[in-house]
Amino acid sequence: MVSLKSTLLAGLALAAQQAVLAVDLAVKPTGGNKTSPIFYGLMHEDINNSGDGGIYAELIRNRAFQSSLKYPVSLDGWTPIPATTTLELKKLASPLSSALPYSVSVSGGGKAGKIGLANSGFWGMDVKAATRYAGSFYVRGAYKGAFTASLQSALGEKEVFGSVEVQSKSVADGWTQHEYVLVPVKNAPNSNNTLAITFDAAGVEGTGGLDFNLVSLFPPTWKGRKNGLRVDLAEAFAALNPKFLRFPGGNMLMGHTLGTFWRWNETIGPLKDRPGSDGTWEYPISTGMGLIEYMEWADDLKAEPILGVYAGLALDGNYTSEAETDHFVQWALDEFEFLTGDVSTPWGAKRAALGYPKPWTIKYVEIGNEDWLAGRPTSYDAYKAYRFPKFYNAFKAKHPQVQLIASPSVYDGFVAPADVVGDWHPYLTPDGLVDRFNRTDRLTQANRTLIGETAATHPNGGLAWDGPLASNPWWQGSVAEAIFLLGTERNADRVIGACYAPQMRNLNRWQWGMTLVQHAADTALTTYSTSWHVWKLLGQHVITKTLPVTVSNGKINPLYFVAGDSEHDTTIVKLAVYNSTTPVPVNLKIESVEAGTAATLITLTGPADPYAINDPFLRTNVVKETTTKLVAGEDGAFTFSLPQLSVAVLETEKKGGKGKGKGDEGKGKGKKARRMNM
Ligand SMILES: *[C@@H]1O[C@H](CO)[C@@H](O)[C@H](O)[C@H]1NC(C)=O
Ligand SMILES: *[C@@H]1O[C@H](CO)[C@@H](O)[C@H](O)[C@H]1NC(C)=O
Ligand SMILES: *[C@@H]1O[C@H](CO)[C@@H](O)[C@H](O)[C@H]1NC(C)=O
Ligand SMILES: *[C@@H]1O[C@H](CO)[C@@H](O)[C@H](O)[C@H]1NC(C)=O
Ligand SMILES: *[C@@H]1O[C@H](CO)[C@@H](O)[C@H](O)[C@H]1NC(C)=O
Ligand SMILES: *[C@@H]1O[C@H](CO)[C@@H](O)[C@H](O)[C@H]1NC(C)=O
Ligand SMILES: *[C@@H]1O[C@H](CO)[C@@H](O)[C@H](O)[C@H]1NC(C)=O
Ligand SMILES: *[C@@H]1O[C@H](CO)[C@@H](O)[C@H](O)[C@H]1NC(C)=O
Repeated sequence: MVSLKSTLLAGLALAAQQAVLAVDLAVKPTGGNKTSPIFYGLMHEDINNSGDGGIYAELIRNRAFQSSLKYPVSLDGWTPIPATTTLELKKLASPLSSALPYSVSVSGGGKAGKIGLANSGFWGMDVKAATRYAGSFYVRGAYKGAFTASLQSALGEKEVFGSVEVQSKSVADGWTQHEYVLVPVKNAPNSNNTLAITFDAAGVEGTGGLDFNLVSLFPPTWKGRKNGLRVDLAEAFAALNPKFLRFPGGNMLMGHTLGTFWRWNETIGPLKDRPGSDGTWEYPISTGMGLIEYMEWADDLKAEPILGVYAGLALDGNYTSEAETDHFVQWALDEFEFLTGDVSTPWGAKRAALGYPKPWTIKYVEIGNEDWLAGRPTSYDAYKAYRFPKFYNAFKAKHPQVQLIASPSVYDGFVAPADVVGDWHPYLTPDGLVDRFNRTDRLTQANRTLIGETAATHPNGGLAWDGPLASNPWWQGSVAEAIFLLGTERNADRVIGACYAPQMRNLNRWQWGMTLVQHAADTALTTYSTSWHVWKLLGQHVITKTLPVTVSNGKINPLYFVAGDSEHDTTIVKLAVYNSTTPVPVNLKIESVEAGTAATLITLTGPADPYAINDPFLRTNVVKETTTKLVAGEDGAFTFSLPQLSVAVLETEKKGGKGKGKGDEGKGKGKKARRMNM
């Protein structure tokens, strides 16, 4: 907290030091535009274990022995207990389901004693005492006795942190699901742990052993959802206050080749009916996080879903012919009906049958992903010629209320119908992002866009995609993202939203360094990147109407800004400094604010090294957040100073004057609060 006096003194001292550099900003009370209600959002796909082994809370890897052409069935993640036990993949005549044709047979070769199998999770498992882990598995084979499920160390003596006995209901000729709750009595010292399931070989009829499938274990999930999300990671994203969730991609929507696209219809219903998918990031995905799980995530975030529908392009550049495209148009309409149709519609009825009678509302549908990129120019020509028009016409006819989004934007040379929004994905250097501060100024209502992905990816001097990618978000890059966002937020009536990508990465398997959050099995390694801090500050201060700002020196550089009103009757000004050799003193006059009005200034600053990162292993945060209370001076101006590479948000306590409180008698004399009505 800084008193009025010290603020004034600090202001005077700075003014004396750097009078030449002082920037006077004046925020006008009227003349702005209503902003998009979904400006800051999130985008999610299962990129390098951000779904499986990431935000999807399942702890068991390869839980159902799913396979595809690209990924043959395997025993990855599984080991026998003891080592002499045989684990064998089998394609039984009567599998658990047609979606899951393989299972594992566990046999001790006639020897007595406890045998079983263990799963090493996604590079380990976090085990915490007094926590309820919800486990389940399917088993086939006549067995009298109990199973033991244990969370135990993978190292040394394999210390057991908790275990539970599960009475067998297993029979010879069918699959029986067993469910249990395991509450460890001890914290594991690290995440090198396994789930072990054992049984007494003597209790098995015959010598054939038992068959297992769909072995699952969930820690408590975010908002207590069954088949839900990992709490610490879900909270990290909720903290950003996202207003939309774009899914399921991104590349994951498209698939590597024609035919390996994300099949929404195979990601719904009981887990045993989901065959899994290739994904597009070099590992198979379980699709446990399916269409409905994404919708529930959006619900829990109170965010609008932006549903990406497959539009007939694969990452290898192959695309559907005109005749083939019709099938996928109908398929997308079916998907939309599955989510939004009432129970009298064919697909709405299917949703209800799965236990979700209440239809969702979807206001935004994106047609494809980056259709300007893979296989261009012919694939892009096909998008312009028939792929996009077919989807557009079909949705317009059936669901005219939906805001359609084309996957290219005006910046990719796409000329969309005036009622369609584009999607722009600038991945740039810091200078490149700052240079684009005003890029969206000339957008009109006819060429509105979403920024469905963006990040600072290359250090300055990097040669776009030929140059080196950065290994992590770094402070200068994050400030540049802020500046780009401030520029676009000034145009938030025509830029409908913006989100960072990729959202998260697993420390054990990644290629792209850029991310908001890094994670591993060990929750202590969860790390918020420098960009996370910036996006959170900007996302938590929602401008509902922009306001014009005039600047004394007539130029933006090195101080960048956007101003507007919030829905809480306050005025918000977001600012950032880039390429300044000295701190920038600011006199910020908000014309609708009277002398004596209080404001809160939150400032993010970084270390001296612009390349500093938040390293998960050092567990330090290089971003410093400072909160200062300011009071508007006689002329209604707030005076403060912002250092090089900083991002700040000032929010007044309320708009208009603070009235004439007793202590302020006379102060506001002659001045009338200029209250604005929205
Ligand atoms: C509001 O929108 C109009 C029309 O696009 C534009 O000319 C004006 O500059 C905008 N005002 C602000 C404060 O962005
Ligand atoms: C155990 O897990 C931690 C992560 O929690 C990892 O850093 C460490 O290398 C692991 N130790 C062994 C012996 O595998
Ligand atoms: C899901 O839809 C695709 C595309 O129409 C189709 O090829 C596939 O067979 C469907 N899957 C199931 C299980 O019906
Ligand atoms: C494109 O996909 C079709 C259908 O899967 C296939 O027959 C064709 O060989 C593919 N073309 C290329 C160039 O990969
Ligand atoms: C920042 O400063 C550097 C060095 O003077 C210059 O090359 C670069 O163009 C500047 N970037 C911006 C966005 O002003
Ligand atoms: C952005 O500002 C630069 C420098 O003032 C100017 O040359 C450019 O035309 C502006 N771009 C837009 C889209 O207004
Ligand atoms: C957007 O469309 C208008 C015409 O409506 C055009 O003048 C303008 O150049 C377009 N903006 C961009 C960035 O192409
Ligand atoms: C994902 O991980 C795999 C395996 O480590 C790697 O080959 C691939 O390049 C990674 N992809 C991304 C986008 O990080």
